[in-house]
Amino acid sequence: MSGKQSITLNINGRGHEIEVEPRRTLVDAIRDNCGQTGTHIGCEHGICGACTVEIDGEIARSCITYAVACDGARVRTIEGFDDDTAMARLRQAFTEAHALQCGYCTPGMMLAAIDLLAEHPDPTEDEIRHGLEGNLCRCTGYQNIVRAVRNAAAAMGPGVPS
Ligand code: FES
Ligand code: FES
Repeated sequence: MSGKQSITLNINGRGHEIEVEPRRTLVDAIRDNCGQTGTHIGCEHGICGACTVEIDGEIARSCITYAVACDGARVRTIEGFDDDTAMARLRQAFTEAHALQCGYCTPGMMLAAIDLLAEHPDPTEDEIRHGLEGNLCRCTGYQNIVRAVRNAAAAMGPGVPS
């Protein structure tokens, strides 16, 4: 007996029926079972935010979430934002403000930023820093990331388009 369980994950609008052990993390299931490798793995301890995804509309750390706990859930990863207007503006702002270097933190940072902008369409610097404090970046020193989020908010105007 393998001890595996059969679950269904809807990732970026596409259903995946997979078999996983109960201890398998969601990020491993997303990357290895479902082939969506845009979500990164950093600390694997819920600290760095690299593995941030949306689960049923709420951002969460997929390295400390069991895949079996997400049976039937809608998961959105960075690949699921390809046609998202707000994400397109955020991507452009990150590029223009030089808000990434190695890019390892960037997918998680962007998901956290989109979540932040949905709640605070015109965020103060403090709100941005607070909103992104769960996402660590080892390269940039954060200044340019904060600037990028502010510039993206200004470009979007009131309300975050989806
Ligand atoms: Fe999940 Fe660091 S890899 S929080
Ligand atoms: Fe390298 Fe953030 S750009 S960790």
